[in-house]
Formats: sequence, structure tokens, C-alpha cells
Amino acid sequence: MPITAPIEVDVHLTPAEVAAALADDVRRGLGAPGRWLPAKWLYDERGCALFEAITELPEYYPTRAERAVLAASAADIAAAAPAEVLVELGSGTSEKTRLLIDALLAGGSLRRFVAVDVAEATLRAALADLAASRPGLEVAGVVGDFAAHLDRIPAGAGRRMVAFLGGTVGNFDEPHRLAFLATLADVLAPGEWLLLGTDLVKDPSRLVAAYDDASGVTAAFERNVLAVVNRELDADFALDRFAYVARWNADLERIEMGLRSIGAQRVHVGALDLTVDLADGEEIGTEVSAKFRRAGIGRELAAHGFAVRGWFTDPQPVEPGGDFAVTLAERVAR
Ligand code: SAH
Ligand code: TRP
Repeated sequence: MPITAPIEVDVHLTPAEVAAALADDVRRGLGAPGRWLPAKWLYDERGCALFEAITELPEYYPTRAERAVLAASAADIAAAAPAEVLVELGSGTSEKTRLLIDALLAGGSLRRFVAVDVAEATLRAALADLAASRPGLEVAGVVGDFAAHLDRIPAGAGRRMVAFLGGTVGNFDEPHRLAFLATLADVLAPGEWLLLGTDLVKDPSRLVAAYDDASGVTAAFERNVLAVVNRELDADFALDRFAYVARWNADLERIEMGLRSIGAQRVHVGALDLTVDLADGEEIGTEVSAKFRRAGIGRELAAHGFAVRGWFTDPQPVEPGGDFAVTLAERVAR
């Protein structure tokens, strides 16, 4: 039997910290009208499984598009950015990331892969699989919140590339996205890289279909956040009394997702001693997914000390020239 070293995983979110953070978010998010729940609570074990199913839906093109971009361009990315350490934020199963890992290994630079995710079980499974299939690669994990724990990413083991794929950067609203880029710029040294996956603005009907599929998988994924609150905080949300909504906000160029109360209803959150009275049709916001344009990405990166070194998209004949983009940027001295 092969001897495998235990995989090193730093847990910056213990179950007690998770419980406290969730309680805080629910108190703040559901306590007053303009209600919302942060997206990171979607990813318990069932949420991760539902997300996996989303990535395979016929309507959900981003995963396939990003995989195609990486398949075509990983070797070019590895040549332009020969990182010794690859850090992946919101790594999930790291499925597409393997294309990048293998290109960096083939180029001879990569020694270590560090995955960062809130979903501990998914993270551990992905790392175990990578360690077994790429024996020369050191793998490590950080269970943490990429919006709060960027400073905990291990440094000093060589030049790093931070990969943030899947369009997950679009799940921040604009102020949080800019704050995230500012923090990331502080964490990276000049000469280190960011590889950013972003979904692009396109025909709204394709966008809405991608976030509201005919088979209802996305609706189940979004409703699952109510099941998380029920389980973790002893709440009594009736999941079937919420309709899933996904709409295109043309001004902000983002998909907005939420759960709309079917009828007026009262919900108790036992652990917080909180009563929430929802009006008929009132919405609980669950997530946004911003869509990007090349010029805007370049502007935001430049404003935060990143110089674009490569722009990779899937081939599409029409404006804006692709469904999905992967941008390679280098941290430069400001
Ligand atoms: N990168 C993968 C998964 C994207 S789904 C892909 O491209 O397919 C988003 C992932 O980010 C999930 O694995 C989820 O658990 C994780 N995540 C969401 N919010 C997070 C946060 N605040 N901190 C760390 N991980 C987070
Ligand atoms: N970050 C991806 C996106 O915005 C994945 C994702 C998050 C997602 N929440 C979702 C996909 C809800 C579909 C539905 O596309």
C-alpha cells in the first residue's frame, strides 16, 4: 500500500466560529426589511452537491466555457507566469484547476498547491484526490473565508499565483469586490500573479436561463440556504413557501437572485430568539452574480496595482468576443 502523508489543512473557521458568524449574518440580514443572506452559507454538503449539479446543467455555460479557456490556454498561462505556489480561492472540487496545475507542473515551476474554501469536506476530498494523482505536488488546505482570511494564506514558499475561478469574484457586490482586490493587492508581493475567471456580459435571456434552469436545480440550491438556517439556528422556514427569482439588473450588469415569500408569513429563528414577519412577495436576497467587460476588468485591476499580462476567452463570433474570460495579472509596484 502506498504511504501517503497526511494532508495539512489549517482550519480558520472552527464549527463554533461558523456558528457565531452565521448567527451574526442572520441577525443582521433577516432582522430588518431589505433582507438578505450571504452566499457563503449556501455551501453546506448538500449545497456543494447541488452546485456540482449546476455546473453540469445545459443552461449553465460558465463552467464549460471556463474549462475550454483553460484547456486551450493553460500552457500559455504557465509560460507567462511560472509560479512555484498556486493558491486557489473558493476552490470547491478544483476540477478545472487541474488543467492549470498540470500545465504548471509540465513547465517545471510548480511545487505546491494551496486550496482555500469554507466547505471543509469538499476541500479535503479535492486535496486527497490531487495528492494521490499528482505525487510530486505538495498540497495544503485552508478552511476559511476568502473575504476575511486572505492574510492567512501562507507566504514565503516561492512566487505565488492566486487563482480565483468560476466567476466567484462576481458574487461580491461592487464595494466588496473592490475591497477584496485591495486586500489581495496588499497580500501579494510585486511579481506575484492573479488569475481571475469572470463571466462576461451577454444576451440577458442566456444569463437568466443560466441562473434559473428549467429543471429547478438552481432554485433548490438557493432554497437550501433556508435549510441551513433551519438546521444551524433552529429556524422554521417552510422551503416550499418561497419562490426562487433570478433577474438581470441591466444598470448594474448583474444577475440578482433571491427567495420571494409566497403569502405573508412569520418565521422564528429559535437560536436567536428572532421573529421575522415577511410580507407577501417580500424577497430575501441570496446572491448576485456580476458580469464583466474587458475594459472594466482592466480598469479595476489597474486601480489596485495589477497589470494585465494575458486575456483568454473562449472563441465566440459575436460581441463581446467570448462567454467567459480568464485574466492573468501581475502585481506591480504602485
Ligand atoms: N472554483 C469552483 C467552485 C465555485 S463555487 C468552480 O469554479 O467551479 C464557489 C466556491 O467558493 C464554493 O466551493 C464555496 O464553498 C466557496 N466559497 C463561497 N464563499 C466563500 C467564502 N466567503 N470564503 C471561502 N470560500 C467560499
Ligand atoms: N460564481 C458562480 C456564478 O456566479 C457560481 C454560482 C454561485 C452560481 N451561485 C450560483 C451558479 C447560483 C448558479 C446559481 O455563476
